[in-house]
Amino acid sequence: MAKRIDVSDLDIYYGSFRAVEGVTMTIEPRSVTAFIGPSGCGKSTFLRALNRMHEVIPGAHVDGKVVIDGQDLYASDVDPVGVRRQIGMVFQRPNPFPTMSIAENVLAGMRLNNKRMRKAEAEEVVERSLRGANLWNEVKDRLDRPGSGLSGGQQQRLCIARAIAVQPQVLLMDEPCSALDPISTLAVEDLIQQLREDYTIVIVTHNMQQAARVSETTAFFNIAGTGKPGKLIEMGPTDVMFSNPSQSATEDYISGRFG
Ligand SMILES: Nc1ncnc2c1ncn2[C@@H]1O[C@H](COP(=O)(O)OP(=O)(O)OP(=O)(O)O)[C@@H](O)[C@H]1O
Ligand SMILES: [Mg+2]
Repeated sequence: MAKRIDVSDLDIYYGSFRAVEGVTMTIEPRSVTAFIGPSGCGKSTFLRALNRMHEVIPGAHVDGKVVIDGQDLYASDVDPVGVRRQIGMVFQRPNPFPTMSIAENVLAGMRLNNKRMRKAEAEEVVERSLRGANLWNEVKDRLDRPGSGLSGGQQQRLCIARAIAVQPQVLLMDEPCSALDPISTLAVEDLIQQLREDYTIVIVTHNMQQAARVSETTAFFNIAGTGKPGKLIEMGPTDVMFSNPSQSATEDYISGRFG
C-alpha cells in the first residue's frame, strides 16, 4: 500500500508568484518524513502539491515532476480527484463535518468516492478506521453523535480516521498537532508511529522535538526573504539533521537562532 514519492525540479506557483523553487527529493515508503522550516518557506504549498490539492486555488500551478511509484502524478490522463483519494491529507485544524455523526465523518471520504456499501461493511470500516486512529474506545458508544462534540484532540484523530478509511497510500499531515494539548499530541504521535508500518507519511511541524520523535528523515526548507521562493536546503536522516547538519542555515534553524 505504501508508495515511494520522487519529486524532481518542482516549482510551485500562485499565479505568477513562485512560492517554491527547484525541489528535488525522494520520500521513502513505510517511513515518516518531517518538513521543517520558517513560516512562509512553502512547506504547506509543497505538501499540497503532492496530492494536487494545490490546484484547487485559482491560478495555482506547478512545473516539474512528482512521480508516485512510477506514476507521474501530473500526467494529462491522471484524474486529480483519484489522486486525492490515494494520497490522504490531514490539516492543521481538525475539520470534521459538524453536522455529521462520528460514524458518518469516518465514511465521508468513501461516500464521496461513490462507493455503495452494505451496513455491515460500513460498520466494519468505521471500527477499523477508528481503531487505526486510536479513537475507537473513546467513541464506540456514541458513534451516532456529532463529530463536533468531541475534544480537539479527538476531532483530529477523527480526521485521521476519515483519511485512513479510504486506505490511502500516502498520508500528508500539515501541522496536525498545532491545535492540540500535550496529551492529544502524544496520542497523535503514537498513532503516527503505528501508521508508519503501512503508509508513507509526511508531516509538517514547527516542533523540533516532534520532528525528532516521530520522523526518520527530515527535510529543511528555507526562504531568502519576503517575496523570494522557498527552497529545500537539505534533507537527511533525522538524527544527522539534528546533530550534524551539513548546512549552516539548518544548524541555525534547529538551534533556534532564527525562524
Ligand atoms: N492561496 C495562496 N495564494 C497566494 N499565495 C499563497 C497562498 N498560500 C500561500 N501563499 C504564499 O506562498 C508562500 C508559502 O506559503 P506556505 O503557506 O506554503 O508556507 P509555510 O511554510 O506552510 O508557512 P507556515 O509555517 O506559516 O504554515 C508564502 O509567501 C505565502 O504567502
Ligand atoms: Mg503551513
